[in-house]
Amino acid sequence: MLTTNWPLEFTCLIVFLFKAHCEDGKFGLCSTSTEHEKDLCNSGLRRIPSNLSDDTVYLDVSHNDIVSIGHGDLSALIHLCFLKVTHCGLQHISPDAFSNNSEIKVLNISHNHLTTIPNLPLPQLNVLDLSSNRYPSYALPRSFGNLSHLSILAVGSQEATFVHLGDFVPLQNIILKKVTFGSGIELQHYEKGSISQIKSLEEAVLKVTFCQHLDIFKNIIIDFDRIQTKKIQLVQLFPDQCNIKSDPFVMFKDLLVISNLAIVDTWMNSSVMVKLFKNIWMSSIEKIAFLNITYNEDTPDGFQLPKQKHTTHLRAFLLDGVHHYQYRYPIINTSMELVNQLTYLKFSGSGMNILPCSLIPSIGSLQILDLSNNLLDDSGFWWYCSSQKVFPALKHLSLSHNRFSDLAFIAKKVEDMKLIESLDLSFNSIFISNVPCVWPYHLRELSLSHNNLGNKVFSCLSPYFRKIDLSKTGISVIPQNIASQFPRLTHLVLNFNSIQVIPADLYAPALASLYIDHNAITFISQNSMKGLSSLRTLKAGHNPFSCNCDSFWFLNAFNKSLLPDWPREYACGTPPSFSGRLLVKCKLGWLSCQPGLQVAVVLPILLTIGIAVAITFNACDGVWYTKMFWMWIRVKRRSYKRDDRLLNVTFRYHAFISYSQHDSAWVESKLVQELEGSGFSLCVHERDFEPGKWIVDNIINCVEGSYKTLFILSKNFVESQWCNYELFFAQHRAISVNDDSLVFILLEPIPGDSLPKKFLKLRTLLRRKTYLEWPTDEHKKHIFWSNLKAILQTVDESKILKDVAMDIADICPLVPE
Ligand SMILES: *[C@@H]1O[C@H](CO)[C@@H](O)[C@H](O)[C@H]1NC(C)=O
Ligand SMILES: *[C@@H]1O[C@H](CO)[C@@H](O)[C@H](O)[C@H]1NC(C)=O
Ligand SMILES: *[C@@H]1O[C@H](CO)[C@@H](O)[C@H](O)[C@H]1NC(C)=O
Ligand SMILES: *[C@@H]1O[C@H](CO)[C@@H](O)[C@H](O)[C@H]1NC(C)=O
Ligand SMILES: *[C@@H]1O[C@H](CO)[C@@H](O)[C@H](O)[C@H]1NC(C)=O
Ligand SMILES: *[C@@H]1O[C@H](CO)[C@@H](O)[C@H](O)[C@H]1NC(C)=O
Ligand SMILES: *[C@@H]1O[C@H](CO)[C@@H](O)[C@H](O)[C@H]1NC(C)=O
Ligand SMILES: *[C@@H]1O[C@H](CO)[C@@H](O)[C@H](O)[C@H]1NC(C)=O
Repeated sequence: MLTTNWPLEFTCLIVFLFKAHCEDGKFGLCSTSTEHEKDLCNSGLRRIPSNLSDDTVYLDVSHNDIVSIGHGDLSALIHLCFLKVTHCGLQHISPDAFSNNSEIKVLNISHNHLTTIPNLPLPQLNVLDLSSNRYPSYALPRSFGNLSHLSILAVGSQEATFVHLGDFVPLQNIILKKVTFGSGIELQHYEKGSISQIKSLEEAVLKVTFCQHLDIFKNIIIDFDRIQTKKIQLVQLFPDQCNIKSDPFVMFKDLLVISNLAIVDTWMNSSVMVKLFKNIWMSSIEKIAFLNITYNEDTPDGFQLPKQKHTTHLRAFLLDGVHHYQYRYPIINTSMELVNQLTYLKFSGSGMNILPCSLIPSIGSLQILDLSNNLLDDSGFWWYCSSQKVFPALKHLSLSHNRFSDLAFIAKKVEDMKLIESLDLSFNSIFISNVPCVWPYHLRELSLSHNNLGNKVFSCLSPYFRKIDLSKTGISVIPQNIASQFPRLTHLVLNFNSIQVIPADLYAPALASLYIDHNAITFISQNSMKGLSSLRTLKAGHNPFSCNCDSFWFLNAFNKSLLPDWPREYACGTPPSFSGRLLVKCKLGWLSCQPGLQVAVVLPILLTIGIAVAITFNACDGVWYTKMFWMWIRVKRRSYKRDDRLLNVTFRYHAFISYSQHDSAWVESKLVQELEGSGFSLCVHERDFEPGKWIVDNIINCVEGSYKTLFILSKNFVESQWCNYELFFAQHRAISVNDDSLVFILLEPIPGDSLPKKFLKLRTLLRRKTYLEWPTDEHKKHIFWSNLKAILQTVDESKILKDVAMDIADICPLVPE
């Protein structure tokens, strides 16, 4: 416990710093894509353009000269959700101007010259800003009672100085979140209870100054408290020149609900400050903030606040931006009791360059200390207090936007803070020395963003870190051993660097969130994401992505719900012709980018082609042609062997032809004609048999006198004639019957197993030997004859091969075009 009644003197350098904050949010209510947004600010417009696309969702025509919004000006924009027409000198809005815009959720017509508050038939309206106009009264139209979705309302007029009980009655049944009231001037009259006509409110911004009528201030604050308002912001509470004699804050001690008070853009005299704190100390207020104040010591001893007899609810004190009117260190002499339960202290934009040792470090209860945006450096923060046991409860320390430099020194000093969990050193002048950095194991979060550190920063981090922010630190390489170096790492922020590659085998199983946007990364590969099994958020936008197969996996297979910035911030960097195009619009060929898929796709295609070829082949009787070709090749090969035999033996006939009586028509009209017409001599069964001779002897004669024996096979032949040949072959076992001399022509298909078992020889021959099939197709007959003639030819003539080949090619091209 700290000793009570510890007189303090707090000094501060006289520098005036404050953060600029001018965010005009687009409101998540109307989130849309760029093509549905129209920003026509400062375009010299005199009316709302009529050629706007009717799918416009967001329209900003502020800072133009639009005096009136007429009947049909917005009628085409039926999807309009956000409309901003500020600083336009707007005087008139036609009653039916919004008749086709029932989807409007956000309407900002502040900073204009409206002399009446318009009726707004906008059932979806959520945010309405009517402030800084010229209506003479705050009386809201009755139609506002229909704005059941209204949540944020701003009203304020320089002309309206009276507030009546009935003014806010139309809002009686609406549950508002936030009301901004006033236009920076004093009110002349306020009927007690006027504000509390609103049903309920979480937050109020009061833009009214008070000097003459402090009772009005009192009544308004009490009214807000009555409708359960927790948070109140008082903007320009007192005018610059106003001598406040009485105590304007006396009602604070009666407050029940208000717990969060902010005083903004206000001149604060030390005498007023003392009155304020005396009352705050006794009130329900837990958090007080001073934003952009001018502090003036109008009392000779500065801020003097002795011990009070009450306990306080105050837990948080925020100061952001102080202008020291006197240009000297303020004098603060207060009881520590006032602050000894503070858990959150922000002292920012105060120009502090040296830590007031006896003040801030002595607040033993502090858990959050924000000293950002000052002029502190290593020695200004850790001066003589460093030997004391300081900040015993501190968990979060922000030293952002200061002048700290030596990281090893800071690490060593932070060890004294026994509970510290997070440290923000962003926007400083940090460097990494050769001294090793030793961090306390309980420090889990460190931000070093916006310091010029380079890749060596990784050597000065703690293995206990869970969250590391290294945005804009000049890093170009992510270390591969990140898992072994930071085994507990869950959040890693590396945006705004010059990293080109996410290492392929990056392994960080605990990492839940990775920010690598605004780097020089060209692709995100499956390999680099494999080791990040816990990843829930990946921000990788604003990188120059290669819109080629490198991005194929990321584009097609990566789970986009992990990407909060997808697809708007992912654009192509290369190839140049794609530059700037959204990655999501870049159509990468499935086939060209996926080797596995190629096989999967090409295989069926090849198969299809194969089948097509097979069908064509079949349709053209490819089998038949192949057989014919094969036969011919055999003939050609054997003709060499034959030569010896042919040299010594002379034949009476080229061929002996054996056939059934039933097939005689074919033999006589086709075969004999064709062959004899080509100069072959034939011994034709029956025709040339010697009458009266036993048939087998006739056969023997003919077979022996012929170079070849041709069997015209048909079912009839097999049934009626073949038995003779079986006998012949049986009897002439001794005679060398060269199988080669036997040629079979099939007039009709004869399946081998349909043959009678007794025709052993025929079965064997047909199985072993190729036979010629008589084709029904006219074209094929050419080939049949060529082949047959080649067989009967006693000498090899390559011309025949050529003829056959050409015939085949002519008749049936096997490969379809
Ligand atoms: C609308 O008309 C203005 C001129 O009146 C022109 O400058 C503008 O480009 C047009 N806009 C569209 C979207 O056609
Ligand atoms: C606007 O709404 C009216 C009916 O309220 C309709 O007749 C008209 O066509 C609408 N205009 C456009 C441009 O959609
Ligand atoms: C309306 O526009 C003004 C001027 O840009 C801006 O200051 C104000 O915050 C806007 N109102 C709301 C509710 O956003
Ligand atoms: C509110 O809306 C209802 C139905 O849309 C309508 O009948 C009524 O006139 C509206 N009230 C006012 C005050 O405009
Ligand atoms: C603050 O003090 C100055 C004199 O130092 C005085 O002119 C001014 O009116 C005072 N302001 C308030 C709000 O008390
Ligand atoms: C700070 O407050 C003064 C009035 O006290 C005001 O004129 C000025 O605009 C404010 N600055 C900012 C940045 O809000
Ligand atoms: C600080 O306040 C205490 C108690 O009110 C008083 O005794 C002491 O003299 C003051 N110190 C200074 C320097 O004003
Ligand atoms: C994508 O990630 C989200 C959130 O992590 C998860 O809910 C969803 O199931 C994932 N989808 C797929 C297809 O993996």
